[in-house]
Amino acid sequence: MIIAIDGPAASGKGTLARRIAAHYGLHHLDTGLLYRAVAKAVLDAGYPADDVARASAAAAAIDPEKFDENALKAHAVSEASSVVAAIPQVRKALLDYQRAFAARPPGAVLDGRDIGTVIAPGADVKLFVTASPQIRAARRVAELKARGVAADERDVLADLLRRDERDSARAAAPLKPAPDAHLLDTTLLDIDAAFRAAVAIIEAARTGRKRG
Ligand code: DC
Repeated sequence: MIIAIDGPAASGKGTLARRIAAHYGLHHLDTGLLYRAVAKAVLDAGYPADDVARASAAAAAIDPEKFDENALKAHAVSEASSVVAAIPQVRKALLDYQRAFAARPPGAVLDGRDIGTVIAPGADVKLFVTASPQIRAARRVAELKARGVAADERDVLADLLRRDERDSARAAAPLKPAPDAHLLDTTLLDIDAAFRAAVAIIEAARTGRKRG
C-alpha cells in the first residue's frame, strides 16, 4: 500500500505520516528532507540556493542515509529548501529515489508537496492536509520552543506564507491537491483527532476499493 500525504509547511502532515506509517507497518519518507539536504549542501559550499548547476549536482549526490535531521531543520535551510525545490533539474534528480522508496514492500507513506500529483499518482490513498496559517504558525512556534529555540509568531507566520507562496506558485510540481486527494483540515483537530480522521479516510478508501 502506498499513501501519499501532501500539504503546506507545518500543516501536521509529517507527524501524521509517521503515525500512519507506524500504524500500518509501512516505510515512511519525509520528502522535504531531500530538498532540505540539497539546500544545505549548496549553502555549506558557499553558493546561493538558486544556483541551478550547484543545486542540481547536489541533488544527484545526496545520501539520505547520512541525513542529520536537526541540522536540516535550521531556519536558513528551510528558506533555501523552497528555492531549490523550484528548480526542475533538482526535482528530476530526486524523482527516482522517491519512486524506488515508494515501491519497496510492503509499501510506504510519503509526505511532501507533489506526492499525489507527481511522485506516486497511482497511490492507494491520497491525503491533502491543511490548517489555517495562524494555527500552523502557532504549532511551529511550540515545536521550536520545545527544541529550546525562541521564535516570534509573526515572523514564523511571515516565513510560512512566503514559503507557501513559493511552493504553490512555482511551475515545476507546485503544491496543489491531486484531483482524487481527500482533504483533511486539521485547524480544529489535535494530533490524535487528526490521526483518527486520517485512518477513517484510509479505511473508507480501502473498503471502497475492495467493493469496487
Ligand atoms: O516539508 P518541508 O517543509 O520540510 O519541505 C521543505 C521544502 O521542500 C518546502 O518548502 C517545499 C519543498 N518540497 C517540495 O517541493 N516537494 C516535496 N515533495 C517536499 C518538499
